[in-house]
Amino acid sequence: MDNPLIELERSALERIAAASNTEELEAVRVEALGRKGALTQVSKDMAKLPVEQKAAIGKLLNAVKQKLEQAIDARRSEFDAAALRSKLDAEWLDLTLPAPGTRAGSLHPVTQLQQEIEDLFHSLGFAVLDGPEVETEYNNFDALNIPPDHPARDMQDTFWVEGGYLLRTHTSAVQVRGMGRLKPPLRMIAPGRVFRNESVDASHEHTFYQLEGMMVDREVSVANLTYFMKTLLTAIFRREVTVRLRPGFFPFVEPGFELDIQCLICGGSGCPVCKQSGWVELLPCGLVNPHVLRLGGIDPTEWNGFAFGLGLTRLAMMRYGIDDIRWLQSGDLRFLNQFGGAAL
Ligand code: PHE
Repeated sequence: MDNPLIELERSALERIAAASNTEELEAVRVEALGRKGALTQVSKDMAKLPVEQKAAIGKLLNAVKQKLEQAIDARRSEFDAAALRSKLDAEWLDLTLPAPGTRAGSLHPVTQLQQEIEDLFHSLGFAVLDGPEVETEYNNFDALNIPPDHPARDMQDTFWVEGGYLLRTHTSAVQVRGMGRLKPPLRMIAPGRVFRNESVDASHEHTFYQLEGMMVDREVSVANLTYFMKTLLTAIFRREVTVRLRPGFFPFVEPGFELDIQCLICGGSGCPVCKQSGWVELLPCGLVNPHVLRLGGIDPTEWNGFAFGLGLTRLAMMRYGIDDIRWLQSGDLRFLNQFGGAAL
């Protein structure tokens, strides 16, 4: 009986080592150690043996049994460890990855600029007014000293709606509403979307953004106007700017100006951006025409004021070096994602 037991142990150990999963291992266990297994059979056969052999065989039997049980346990923990490892591998989670789900959007560059300018004017005591994009012909033109046959209407052709309405061509229309609502002295700005009948190209859009400003008080001067414009532009460009005024014609201001800033790229020596002139035309402005004040219900013998029109779209292009105005309305995320700084 000695050899068959050793042989049984050897072959069982071999099969335990060769088992490639817990099922195979269990089959080996049942065959070797189970109730109907080989070792059980040996212990049954022992009954027939002479007493003097029983003790020796019994001892060997127990040793083999123990050895096989240990080998099976060891192999089983190998399988368990491997199963755990592969489960951990499969369920591995990188906690440093950004969370999935919808990405937060961000404000459009023009909106960011608009909010910055609103904050600035707020701190200077200006109210921020809103007005409709579909305006009356009267508020957009007549009340700003542009009667129906005035040539200034040609420069601001727009989209007409029936019944004396149109898509406003400038935020100056909100001046008229502001004068009606606020009593002098008044300080207001009106940012918003405006429309013109334009052929679209790299520098012209049918839809763009402006910010109108108006201040009415006693004895407002061009010096006051220049001060506010310099403060504004210094804040926007985050550095001291040099400005100059040139005469400019707008029916609702008298005198009217084009305000230029000294080119920020070349510092005034001349470059392609300023077309070698050293100056960049930035915003139209002037002292409010007395007739416009009168139409707005303000007595021009008592009050006067200044107004300016800021091209928000244009300013955003200058600030960020955007070379084609069409990007701004494109809704192209490759473009918009570059301005993700300010969250919604
Ligand atoms: N509303 C004018 C435009 O859009 C700009 C402007 C505003 C000029 C205020 C003077 C004063 O062209």
